[in-house]
Amino acid sequence: MSKLIMVSNRLPVRIEADGSASRTEGGLASALEGADLEQEQLWVGWPGGAVEDFEDVERVTDDLRRIGVEPVFLTRDEVDGFYEGYSNSTLWPLMHYMIERAKFSRNWWAAYRAVNRKFAEVIMEAADDGDQVWIHDYHLFLLPAMLRGGKKELKVGFFLHTPFCSSEIFRVLPDRVELLKGLLGADLIGFHTYNYLRHFRSALLQVLGWESEMEGMWHDGREVRMGVYPIGHNHAGFEREIRDPGFADLVASHLRDLAGKRMILNVERLDYTKGVPQKLAAMRRFLESNPDKRDDVLFVLIAVPSRQGVREYDDLTEEVQREVGAINGEFGKVGHAPIQFLHRGFPMCDLAAFYALAEVCMVTPLRDGMNLVAKEFLDCQRPEFSERPGVLILSEFAGAAHELSHALHVNPHDVDQVAAAINRALEMPDDERLQRIGMMQKRLRKQHSGVWARRFLKELDKAQPGEGRIEIMELSPLAARLGEMARERGALGLFLDYDGTLRPFVDVPDQAVPDPELPGLLRDLAGCRGVSLAVVSGRTAEFLEKHLGGLGVSLIGEHGYRWLEHGTGEWELFNPHVNTEWKNAIREHLEQASLLTPGTHVEEKQSALVWHYRKADPEFGLWRARGLLEELTSMAANLPVTVHHGQKIVEISSLQVSKGLAVDHLLRAWDCRAALVAGDDQTDETMITLAPEGVEFFSVKVGAGPTRAAYRTDIPGLRSFLEELRKVLRH
Ligand code: UDP
Ligand code: G6P
Repeated sequence: MSKLIMVSNRLPVRIEADGSASRTEGGLASALEGADLEQEQLWVGWPGGAVEDFEDVERVTDDLRRIGVEPVFLTRDEVDGFYEGYSNSTLWPLMHYMIERAKFSRNWWAAYRAVNRKFAEVIMEAADDGDQVWIHDYHLFLLPAMLRGGKKELKVGFFLHTPFCSSEIFRVLPDRVELLKGLLGADLIGFHTYNYLRHFRSALLQVLGWESEMEGMWHDGREVRMGVYPIGHNHAGFEREIRDPGFADLVASHLRDLAGKRMILNVERLDYTKGVPQKLAAMRRFLESNPDKRDDVLFVLIAVPSRQGVREYDDLTEEVQREVGAINGEFGKVGHAPIQFLHRGFPMCDLAAFYALAEVCMVTPLRDGMNLVAKEFLDCQRPEFSERPGVLILSEFAGAAHELSHALHVNPHDVDQVAAAINRALEMPDDERLQRIGMMQKRLRKQHSGVWARRFLKELDKAQPGEGRIEIMELSPLAARLGEMARERGALGLFLDYDGTLRPFVDVPDQAVPDPELPGLLRDLAGCRGVSLAVVSGRTAEFLEKHLGGLGVSLIGEHGYRWLEHGTGEWELFNPHVNTEWKNAIREHLEQASLLTPGTHVEEKQSALVWHYRKADPEFGLWRARGLLEELTSMAANLPVTVHHGQKIVEISSLQVSKGLAVDHLLRAWDCRAALVAGDDQTDETMITLAPEGVEFFSVKVGAGPTRAAYRTDIPGLRSFLEELRKVLRH
């Protein structure tokens, strides 16, 4: 039976140096606590603190294992570099668009990688084939790819609990490439909102130049799926607190403390993303403009201490304390201070009681991945605890704003607007309050954290570990057989594609020159008795001759338009009568597109026209390419051409030219008795699908993707096969 391995930096439980345990705050831990999954589960995460400070590490480990947790202990240096440094002083501010707060350090990055590796090792030790591994949040961006490199067949999911910032911000990260590739190790990547998914896809395109679809993309021969899964709150947990027999007394006691004041509630970790100073400015503005309400309202500000080792957080605490003191000094009176600042965490039962009694709840972050406080407040509002339904004031920059459209939406930077919203909420008639809250409650009670987790895991379960992995066949017997044939029958033809077959793709095609061993290998093979070898490529004659000329190898260029026998003499055309009249009409179109799209150009080949957009803005280039494809496909309906969308190109080429037609011609010209073709993409399928009469014909596909070839391998596999063949033929 496979199990679920939950992985997050922050566990739902925190262990102190003396071994005592407490519940952790924060959206991730609180939602997952309520997910209530039936599956066998193991949690992998950091118990808090530095391992050097623990009195008895073994005892803590045993205690945690007993409750299904496999701890990842961090050293003091790792806490500094990985947790406080790279995770919370580099990634956290950037993901929340606070670029001026982000700090960069090479040491932090090294620690981040090392700790991600540490997590990978713990998981690899605990996991079995077929297990689901669900990784949470920005602390572990590199982990999916690290797990992929391991030997076990795991279904790896990743969920981001923060926003994914615009690619313009993400690009700032010096380690952007490695971070994105790390994430793409997952089978399924989830976000709270469509916007975050959109930004992520745009980062893939802008940073890596990789195109994706809304549902995902192919990467490294695997499907990486992406989706939007808005998280819900721990409905079951709050329901349990509310149903508890002691709850009514708890509510009554808090009600007495309120002494008839109207509570405006605020609950958050004290984090600069939550916009507490801006909120205090709005409270001040409200108190200034509404002197008649000053004595009636009580702002309760629950600010849970958070990430206290990080300087920005310590500064924020001081700033908030100072401002609360100033407002109370200015607007308070004997027996009443308008703001009550509670700088500590509260157990769930107290929170539920506060939520139930609040008349207004202010959730006004500057940015927030989702924000669960908003949902918890709405859920705990019940007629049995409060006469008047409550009103939610919600920042338009919280992920929750997408779902909670009946809240009073505000721009938290607009102090006047927030102050006015507080007043509006207090004056809102009961029937409007009831209607708004009713609309939102219905939705969120159905979309709680359990539903969210099950939905994500169901999707993740569809992943097929190992799927798309190239099945590398053992090609030595084939080498032996071809050797035999060459000896017995003579005239063995070898037809090899270049890019993606003999050499891996690189970002700049001109840099894809042969590696030092390749020319020697080709020369040796072509020099064997009875063997004719041709490199069959889409490249131009100039490129092929420059890099592969003079080796005794025949060169076929431009997808089979022209060729050079044994790499010497004159280039010839396979078919001198190819109709290229269509080029005039198409050329004009492509030139127009390159005028309108900076960074693109048109390449003219004898039998083809190619529009290149590698140097254009990737998003703009892709958009234009799609438009061109649509136009050209309908234009080309009556022309003897095919239209093909390749790697950052749109190519229109003559139907009378193909690699297959060229190879077929040479098989006859060379009177081959046996032949082998190898290639990696769709243009190579024209030679792979040949069935020449009287020829023992073998075909090899290099890499993933559909094919009609009889054998499949990867680039290193093909190279070893060719080396083996050289040995056999020389023997
Ligand atoms: N929370 C808590 N005790 C407190 C205050 C808050 O357990 O005293 C919980 C709260 O119930 C909520 C979470 O902390 O589930 C905060 O999550 P949210 O998504 O609002 O913000 P995050 O902390 O994840 O940025
Ligand atoms: C946010 C993050 C979580 C984190 C939580 C509390 O919700 O998305 O990953 O656990 O804040 O922060 P902490 O640094 O205490 O784990």
